[in-house]
Amino acid sequence: MNKQNIDWDNLGFSVYPTRSMWQGTCPAKGEWNGGGLVPYGNIEISPVAGVLNYGQGVFEGLKAYHSAKDRVVLFRPEMNAQRIVGSTNRLCIPEIPPDYFLNAVKQVVQDNLDFVPPYGKGELYIRPVVWGTAPTLGVAPAREYTFIVYTAPVGPYFKGNKKPLNLIASESYHRTAPKGIGNVKAIGNYSASLQPVVEAKAGGFDEVLYLKADDERIVEEVGSANIFMRQGNKLVTPKLGGSILPGVTRNSILILAEDKLGLDVVEGDLLLEDLFSADEVFCTGTAVVVTSVGQISYHGETHTIQDGEMGEAATELRQILVGIQREEIEDPYGWVTPVSS
Ligand code: COI
Repeated sequence: MNKQNIDWDNLGFSVYPTRSMWQGTCPAKGEWNGGGLVPYGNIEISPVAGVLNYGQGVFEGLKAYHSAKDRVVLFRPEMNAQRIVGSTNRLCIPEIPPDYFLNAVKQVVQDNLDFVPPYGKGELYIRPVVWGTAPTLGVAPAREYTFIVYTAPVGPYFKGNKKPLNLIASESYHRTAPKGIGNVKAIGNYSASLQPVVEAKAGGFDEVLYLKADDERIVEEVGSANIFMRQGNKLVTPKLGGSILPGVTRNSILILAEDKLGLDVVEGDLLLEDLFSADEVFCTGTAVVVTSVGQISYHGETHTIQDGEMGEAATELRQILVGIQREEIEDPYGWVTPVSS
């Protein structure tokens, strides 16, 4: 497979223009149909667009992998197609049919195969995003919507890749409000996380660990990922509902931990205090994959987990997950979908 002339060994998680992107539009009470590939580039938008004024937009994130079978595959794209249905409904955006979503994703990847990093060098990150385009001065759903799928070749999300993370449990900010939009992938959730993460980085931390708005003893999420704790044979992650994002990697890890590692998996309330004495803590996400947490600071006190080393379960789960994604090991779940032969 021919590849672009890119410095594949030094990819980070950043913007990289590719050949093309998908663009489709939908009227407020109409349906998504039509659309197609357009050259990658800037778009024109009204200053009064719903998304610019009232944040009416949601997105997804998934990856294409150049696998050991020398073909390009997607990982569980139907989960993203399902999740964006929930996100669009919550923000009064016309629902994107899963087939329309999957067709757009596949076409973009097929047209940009030479931007998919070579086997083992990274992935092609795929970002479907949909927003209210029509001018909307009063607070109301827009009358027209745009759906774009663009891609970028990426490497590790965190510099230093698998190094255990140093988190700060936030005393000053919540990620979302109870009964808010934390359980969908709304762009506004990420804008709310900018100031906390900038402050965390300035303080020498990698990311923010958010606590539940109505009970700060309970942990919710890391800004860019879901969180897990292992205590002996028990693996706990915050239960869905409320304001937890239903991560595709979160779901895959719950299945792999039970099937492959024989762990007892629990979706429940995860107490911050329990994290401090856990055998290991790690976070999961499409961008972060599976990354161990080595330290958590709270109220000025730093708690070191597992001597700050990579946890055993996190290491094994990451290997199995990545092994399936790269078609190095058998995929008994049918999680991998080829987009090239
Ligand atoms: C992802 O993991 O794909 C995400 O959407 C998280 C993030 C980079 C915002």
